[in-house]
Amino acid sequence: MCHMANTEGSISSVLSEKRMFHPNPEFSESATVKSMSEYERLYHSAEEDPLKYWASIASNFHWFKKWDTVMEWNEPHSKWFVGGETNLCYNAIDVHVNTWRKNKAAIIWEGEEGEQLTLTYLQLHREVSKFANVLKRRGVEKGDRVAIYMGMTPELVIAVLACARIGAVHNVIFGGFSANAVAERINDSHAKMLVTADGAVRRGKTVNLKDVVDEALVETPSIQNVIVHQRTKQDIHFQDGRDHWWHDLMGLASEYCPAESLDSEHPLFILYTSGSTGKPKGILHTTGGYMTHAGNSFKHVFDIKEQDIYWCSADVGWITGHSYIIYGPLINGATVLLYEGAPNYPQWDRFWDMIQRHKVTIFYTAPTAIRAFIRAGDEWVTKHDLSSLRLLGTVGEPINPEAWMWYHKFIGKEKCPIVDTWWQTETGGIMISPLPGATPTKPGTATRPLPGILVDVVHKDGTSCKPNEGGFLVVKHPWPSMLRTIYGDDERYKKTYWSEVDGMYFTGDGARKDEDGYIWIMGRVDDVVNISGHRLGTSEVESALVSHDAVAEAAVVSRPDDLKGNALVAFVTLKEEFEGDQKLRVELRDHVSKEIGPIAKPDDIRWAEALPKTRSGKIMRRLLREMATSKEVKGDMTTLEDFSVLEKLRQEEEKSHEENSK
Ligand code: PRX
Repeated sequence: MCHMANTEGSISSVLSEKRMFHPNPEFSESATVKSMSEYERLYHSAEEDPLKYWASIASNFHWFKKWDTVMEWNEPHSKWFVGGETNLCYNAIDVHVNTWRKNKAAIIWEGEEGEQLTLTYLQLHREVSKFANVLKRRGVEKGDRVAIYMGMTPELVIAVLACARIGAVHNVIFGGFSANAVAERINDSHAKMLVTADGAVRRGKTVNLKDVVDEALVETPSIQNVIVHQRTKQDIHFQDGRDHWWHDLMGLASEYCPAESLDSEHPLFILYTSGSTGKPKGILHTTGGYMTHAGNSFKHVFDIKEQDIYWCSADVGWITGHSYIIYGPLINGATVLLYEGAPNYPQWDRFWDMIQRHKVTIFYTAPTAIRAFIRAGDEWVTKHDLSSLRLLGTVGEPINPEAWMWYHKFIGKEKCPIVDTWWQTETGGIMISPLPGATPTKPGTATRPLPGILVDVVHKDGTSCKPNEGGFLVVKHPWPSMLRTIYGDDERYKKTYWSEVDGMYFTGDGARKDEDGYIWIMGRVDDVVNISGHRLGTSEVESALVSHDAVAEAAVVSRPDDLKGNALVAFVTLKEEFEGDQKLRVELRDHVSKEIGPIAKPDDIRWAEALPKTRSGKIMRRLLREMATSKEVKGDMTTLEDFSVLEKLRQEEEKSHEENSK
């Protein structure tokens, strides 16, 4: 990482975005938070006394025993609602089963081939209770870790909730991970049980999950039992004594399984997230605090109403799926659409077709998906009736303003507010986001922090940056759903999050706060480049590129340059109908120069059919950096989704090297 001489930690911001969109009055009228002044009131009272605020939120949920102390802080460790006892599964299901909602759809599932299944809250309660009994019968006790490795089926949700019901700690492993990655996560968490499926369905093919599991389990001594859900009915290897069919065990299980009364700080789950180097970090979340923020943030950010059909297209294998497919929505008694498969199966209009058929009202997805839809072409969207939609959301990466505008225009038909939600696996829930009935939005910013969340943009010494001065994004006060530690490695927890800026949680992101207090994420601090003494967030240069008509997606990295110190290299994916040539290169350079200034003009532009991404869709700039610097990629690649992307880039690299030097 490079530093400027005087203001260490400051990053130059070059992107300026002036468009602003106000929520329409009709939306605001019925929203949970109706105006900016209401938001300001809430925000300031929470800022004055965060503990009082969080206690009032927590009291909206069901506690078997009320807490004695709201929070105990022993930097960098916090405990929330100390002495209280509750259960997340109880709050997500049982509380509804005792009301009229018992016959409301909790989950509407659609398989990739179009199969449908609906579980009402009462039915979900029955399945979860049965599976909780199955886990207990197979020796899982409170505090034991259960690994879950499945595709996006209702059984995945049932398994997660059953763990929460009995106080077992779930460790969901994304269904696309390899045997090595599965084994590593099982071993790190010492999981006793694995819940999986024979296969998963993806893009019209079956993924042989059980084969991967069999390979992984050779190296995982802690696993005693494996429960296999039959999804694809393909032939699989079955190890007697260890492997059991889901349906066999469920057939014998009782429907009666009261939810355990658990200490507020009882561990709820471990979810692994990749560090840029080294082994994955097991992010540990606990019960009462996580519940409080997941439930409350969902209600406010998604403005949920009884009649909504809410769809989050993330995978349950990521934090977004944990907090905003399962816990947040179910705590609020919402109806959740759960989709098993790929966004482009059988064609690129699958999502729009589903929104039309299910009359989805709230849709939450990732910028990477939006950019893929833009690339595929508008005609896939325009042939569908999307008029049921009333609210849109994004998460996972900075959304380039032009991608935001496309989402606004083509999906939201200029009437749906967009909530650009900034948060992390570590934060457990949304931290910065518009409140859709209150906050005027600007394309490309997650706007303002939620009430009770005290974030700032600071220099390395912890002093606040001036408006529009780039710096480190930090959180200055503990919040209930913060990670408690990195499982098994408290030192790494302290080092990663609490040693960069004194007394504050360091997010790893660079950001700037504009004159309205809106926060603009400039990407991971590791992705900052130093050009002629200015530290630039690469995401701004990327957004400038994406604002050109021909560009679908771009990733910008730096490579050492003899003359300039550093040179900017842009990897660019064009929209389907455009061809990459020298003329377009010149045009793109000029375009960036016009949008940002000559300083940000890429030195090389390389055409990329696709960019290397993590399995959750984030661009792996580190690999591109290595490629741009040494033509070779050596670092950790276990989270890379598609290896062939690298090979294609390598071939392209040879070609563009010559052309760029012309
Ligand atoms: O860099 C930020 C980016 O994603 C990181 C967190 O990644 P993960 O733990 O995988 O969680 C993703 C889902 C919550 C952040 O440090 N990020 C996430 N949301 C946004 C974002 N960057 C800009 N804008 C966002 N809305």
